[in-house]
Amino acid sequence: MIKKLSALVFISLLTSAVFAEDGDIFKKKCGVCHALNNVSKAKQGPDLTGYAAKRSNEYLQAYMTNPAEAKKKFPDIYNKEVKGKYQFAMPSVKLTDTEKQSILNVLK
Ligand code: HEC
Repeated sequence: MIKKLSALVFISLLTSAVFAEDGDIFKKKCGVCHALNNVSKAKQGPDLTGYAAKRSNEYLQAYMTNPAEAKKKFPDIYNKEVKGKYQFAMPSVKLTDTEKQSILNVLK
């Protein structure tokens, strides 16, 4: 029983550590402009909490590094809620594949 419990505690500590790390990357690269759960409260762009359920993985990956290109490539996906609502267009953000994956993890 104790063993099982400590294994559980260990696993949950491990997952929260991983989330914290991914959260830090989000905070650094996106958090100046976007709100997300309890990671960030910025309001320059849309709140990205739960965004992975709203947009495809492919679109999100394309959009986060090159929004202008993604808007052209996926005209039907971009728009609806976002277009014209914010004061400026999102700039391109430089990200490694690992950073992209971390960001996708926290958008879930
Ligand atoms: C300098 C501010 C800024 C930064 C940094 C920034 N964004 Fe944005 N983002 C915006 C703004 C403003 C919009 C909405 C305007 C637009 O259409 O481009 C937006 C829109 C979005 C959208 C909405 C697209 C849609 O179709 O609904 C996604 C997704 C997004 N950003 C993801 C990210 C991610 C992930 C990062 C970090 C890698 C990031 N953004 C960094 C300002 C920013």
